[in-house]
Amino acid sequence: MELYVDSANITEITHAASLGIIRGVTTNPSLLAKEDPTVDVKQRILDIYKTVGGHLSVEVNSTDTDGMLREADDILSWFPEATIKIPMIPTGLAAVKELSRREIPTNVTLIFTPTQALAAAAAGATYVSVFLGRLDDMGQDSIQVMRDVTEIWDTNGLESLIIAASIRHPIHLLECAKLGADIATTPYKVLMQSLKHPLTDSGLQAFLNDYEKMKAEKEKHAKGGQ
Ligand code: G3P
Repeated sequence: MELYVDSANITEITHAASLGIIRGVTTNPSLLAKEDPTVDVKQRILDIYKTVGGHLSVEVNSTDTDGMLREADDILSWFPEATIKIPMIPTGLAAVKELSRREIPTNVTLIFTPTQALAAAAAGATYVSVFLGRLDDMGQDSIQVMRDVTEIWDTNGLESLIIAASIRHPIHLLECAKLGADIATTPYKVLMQSLKHPLTDSGLQAFLNDYEKMKAEKEKHAKGGQ
C-alpha cells in the first residue's frame, strides 16, 4: 500500500516528502481553505507538485457535468499532470466517463459504500476514494466497507486503484494495508503518529547513554595511560 499525504500545507508536505515515505498528495477545497482562504490555489498546487511529484489530485468545484469538464480542462491547461478529483454524484460519473474516454486520470471522491465504488469503477475512474473516518464518526464500521470493496475488487478483477481516505489514526492504515487497499491518503499528523513508538524513543535514549558512558570510560583510560 502506497502512502499519500492528505494536505495542502507546504511545510507538512515538504517534511513528509523528505522522509521518502509518500508517493503523492491529495487536496480538497476544505484542506485548501483551512490553510488560508485567500490562498492562490494554482500556485499552491504547482508548489506541492514541485515538492513531491508523483500523484496529485485536484478537485473540481462544479456539480454539473459540463462545469466539471470545463474545470478539468482549465486545471489541465496549467497543470497537465493533474489527477482530476470528481465527487461521487451521477453528474460526476458522466464527467468521469468522458475524462476516461480522453485517458485523463480521475479520482472519484466521497465514496461511502461498496456500490458507489463499483459505479465509479464502471464509469472508468482511475482511483476510487473510500472514506473511512466520516463513516466511523456516524457509528458505521468503515473497515467492513473497505473489506467489502477489496473483496469485490478481487472477485471481479477491477482495475481502478483503491484509495483509503478520511484516515483518522494508524489503525486505519494497518487495517487497509491488510485488506489490500492500493493507497492510503493520510493526514500529516497520522503519518507522524504511525512512525512513533515509546519503546523506540526509550531504546534510542538507552543506546545514546551507553555510548556516552563508553566514550567517557575510553577517554579516562586514554588519559590514565599517558
Ligand atoms: O481528502 C479527502 C478525505 O481524506 C478527507 O478526510 O478527515 O475530512 O474526513 P476528512
